Amino acid sequence: MPLLLSIESSCDDSAIALTDIESKALIHHRKISQEREHSRYGGVVPELASRLHALSLPDLLEPLRNRFDEIAAVAVTNEPGLAVTLNEGVMMAKAFAAFKGVPLIGVHHLKGHVYSLFIEKPTRFPMIVTLLSGGHTMVLRVRGMDEMEILATSIDDSVGESYDKVAKMMGLGYPGGPIVEALAREGDPERFPLPVPLRNSPRIAFSLSGLKNAVRLTIQELGGAEAMSERDRQDLAASFQRTVIAHLMQKIRKLLAQETIDDFALVGGVSANLAMRSAFAKLAEDFGMCFHTAPLEFCADNAAMIGRYGVDAYEAGRFTPPEALTVTASKKLQPGEKL
Ligand code: KG4
Ligand code: ZN
Repeated sequence: MPLLLSIESSCDDSAIALTDIESKALIHHRKISQEREHSRYGGVVPELASRLHALSLPDLLEPLRNRFDEIAAVAVTNEPGLAVTLNEGVMMAKAFAAFKGVPLIGVHHLKGHVYSLFIEKPTRFPMIVTLLSGGHTMVLRVRGMDEMEILATSIDDSVGESYDKVAKMMGLGYPGGPIVEALAREGDPERFPLPVPLRNSPRIAFSLSGLKNAVRLTIQELGGAEAMSERDRQDLAASFQRTVIAHLMQKIRKLLAQETIDDFALVGGVSANLAMRSAFAKLAEDFGMCFHTAPLEFCADNAAMIGRYGVDAYEAGRFTPPEALTVTASKKLQPGEKL
């Protein structure tokens, strides 16, 4: 049974997977996260990340040596992300493909996140998909593996980034999402009345930077991060999370009112947030839509989702010649564009 090797290194997670091309079963997945190393800087340091990938990726590949002969193709994330870290995965993929004489498949990281919905499952199209990650915030109309149209995006920060910045402002670690979520669970979401972004604007878009500044001012009024009590942190986290969710719900509700598709999904690192998952599930229910999310372990960056996209690309004969497999860093994506 031929296998597909997949590699992910777009940010601070090194991950490698093996997927059975015919059955789409996930045979192997391992990931080495660099969160601890970046935590002291309050965010990802690209040069450090690329050095850590150079150490971790060979360690992840080595245990698969006895299966190398079964590998029929290599899929690798080549855009978007940090150029220096994407390069580490792409170099390994090219070296492996040349060594074993197998084809390469370049995978768009955001398409990979959409395919996290289909790990060990058949694909399901069309679907409206909200992607909330550290790098991106967008709603997509997905009709197929290469038909993913952007319906709305953030005009400034992404949702994941705003969680990370709020944690940083409160003097907490990186990544901020899980830390803020845990604090929010214990807090009073009514205590700090933060402004819901773009509330009176007809525009269907997202904006998180004004909210971030409102959190900054609140921290100042409380006497700075050091002066905050645990109660203050919990209440501010809960108020922030409630406002982010209110903003997303208001805008996506408007968008769904214009669509006729029956399936709705939430993907990306932030989709591991349970309050977010239940708000999106409720929204789908309100519109009579069927709701989908990835298993919790595959919300954040991973190689299983890259592999799942890779096997469909393999079956479609969509290979990338080595000289055409280049790295593209992040760029601003606009509504109306296709991924
Ligand atoms: O998809 P992902 O792993 O990487 C990118 O493609 O960017 O997303 C990472 C982002 C980080 O900003 C992290 O703080 C956020 O996802 N995140 C969360 C949670 N878990 C991860 N945000 C809110 N609540 C969470 N539980
Ligand atoms: Zn991601």
